[in-house]
Amino acid sequence: MYRIIYKSRSVAPLDWDMVLSITDASEETNSRCGVTGVLLASRTHYLQVLEGNFEDVNAVFRRIARDDRHTELSIVSFSVVDARLFAGWGMRGIGAFDFNKAIEAELMEKYGQEEGGVHFPLEEWQALAMLNDIKMMQKLPDWKR
Ligand SMILES: Cc1cc2nc3c(=O)[nH]c(=O)nc-3n(C[C@H](O)[C@H](O)[C@H](O)COP(=O)(O)O)c2cc1C
Repeated sequence: MYRIIYKSRSVAPLDWDMVLSITDASEETNSRCGVTGVLLASRTHYLQVLEGNFEDVNAVFRRIARDDRHTELSIVSFSVVDARLFAGWGMRGIGAFDFNKAIEAELMEKYGQEEGGVHFPLEEWQALAMLNDIKMMQKLPDWKR
């Protein structure tokens, strides 16, 4: 099992509709090849996790990397992992911007700011810590998606 985490910059300002349109379109392709993960969006950036076997994770990543809706792709990590962090998530979109004000504020305090929004880390351990925080936050009653 492999996990890719990458960060990129959105070409257009990000909103929830944009995130939804990507995750809706990804759901079927990803589930067909058993790729799971999460697409985190700030006002300006994406942080995405893709989990699955070597071939499939690479194939999905190649398609994504060609997409001209984002640019400045940076690989945060590519690792062999024992288990999925996001099993059963298909491709879950999470908006860390005004849509989820409380969550945005909490993440900004912990991980810093970038261009007026949450700073998405480029270090793997920080990215995993942030994703883990989000997994916990999703259990809170005021979580919106
Ligand atoms: C930030 C971002 C994340 C994406 N994530 C996925 C994904 O997880 N799975 C997927 O199939 N397509 C994803 N896409 C869409 C692909 O880039 C691409 O548009 C889609 O797979 C269709 O590819 P094709 O036109 O080469 O068939 C994503 C696009 C962006 C901008």
